[in-house]
Amino acid sequence: MDYALIIEGANEVFTGGAPIEVADPVIAVEDGKIAYVGARAHLNQDKVSDNTERFSALGQLITPGLVDPHTHVVFSGDRSGEYAMRSAGKGYLEIAKAGGGIAATMRATRQASVDELVTTALPRLDRLLANGVTTAEVKSGYGLSFESEIRILEAIKALNARHPIDLVATFLGAHTVPPEYKERRSEYVREVTERMIPEVSRRGLAEFCDVFVEESAFSLEEAELVFRVGLEHGLRPKVHADQLSAGGGSELAARLGAVSADHLEHISDAGIAAMAESDTVAVLLPGAALFLNQQENPPARKLLDAGVRVALATDCNPGTCMSESLLLMLTLGMSRFGMSPSEVLDAVTAQAAKAIGREDRAGQISVGRPADLAIFDVPTHQHLPYHFGVPHTTAVFKGGQKVYGA
Ligand code: NIG
Ligand code: FE
Repeated sequence: MDYALIIEGANEVFTGGAPIEVADPVIAVEDGKIAYVGARAHLNQDKVSDNTERFSALGQLITPGLVDPHTHVVFSGDRSGEYAMRSAGKGYLEIAKAGGGIAATMRATRQASVDELVTTALPRLDRLLANGVTTAEVKSGYGLSFESEIRILEAIKALNARHPIDLVATFLGAHTVPPEYKERRSEYVREVTERMIPEVSRRGLAEFCDVFVEESAFSLEEAELVFRVGLEHGLRPKVHADQLSAGGGSELAARLGAVSADHLEHISDAGIAAMAESDTVAVLLPGAALFLNQQENPPARKLLDAGVRVALATDCNPGTCMSESLLLMLTLGMSRFGMSPSEVLDAVTAQAAKAIGREDRAGQISVGRPADLAIFDVPTHQHLPYHFGVPHTTAVFKGGQKVYGA
């Protein structure tokens, strides 16, 4: 069979982990999959015919379709006022205690139908796509009741069917204790473990189970219980860990074999050591620290030097990071975390894919994988974080089909 598509003329192809060092690189696509990547000289010319579509990426950078491994894009309501309050000096927890925060989004989200949740999330996915994203994780967690959490997961399923981005669903019923359970939190944990998780699992609505481990949310003991029940129901753990204080969430993640531990602004040395011993990916969220004007950075260098896999994500959510700009996270990964250009690119491709259990499918350009590709109008991967805050994406291919760009 002939190649369906060849993409040629690129100045650099970053295959995942590193750029390939060949002159005149070409990518050939067949059956939606990468059939060849390398120098034009070794392309099988017999498979190039009049039926082969040619796409010019002249002088540009080609990367694997980017992977955003941590988002909360399904929600209703508007918290722009909270951002204004924060810039005027109010604290995140202070606003949450006064009825804002996660509970404010929860009230709006509980009112929304599945269709409404889909309609409000679609443009957010479009903006992720415009950043070159072809695979993203999406969490529930703004419903905090059986019915509403299920509606969010149904919306994620519907969005996955409608939108070119591949979505991976995570159940985050344990995001915070909803106000009506404040005085009887163990009952809410029971609601999560005895009703929500079994239903989510029975209906195959999520792959992962997440808990916000934090003084203001759930204790280590509560989290462990939720994760154990999740594991019994086939949901692998992901953990919101050590974001606002060192709570031992990263140690718990490593001990339970979680697929990722996320945030980690306050991870302890013991947490780093535990992560280094495990296969758990550290997902760092520099947009949240920026938006909250947190001075503490997660110790990205220490994590990398200890051998921990590091991914970057948007954390796109209405409270702590209202942004779909994964490209901005590359710049923040360098400026705030001291990561190198290839480390930040690796962090939104191969490592991000590993953080959501998609290492066999996403985050790399190699023969046999789906042809998920992003093309940026910059000459090399080093320029992508360097030239920041402006759109660079010229085209995005998903399974060999152009889903973004002219
Ligand atoms: O990932 N950390 C916990 N949850 C979200 C934000 C919650 C909110 O304020 O809506 C986060 O940062
Ligand atoms: Fe988050």
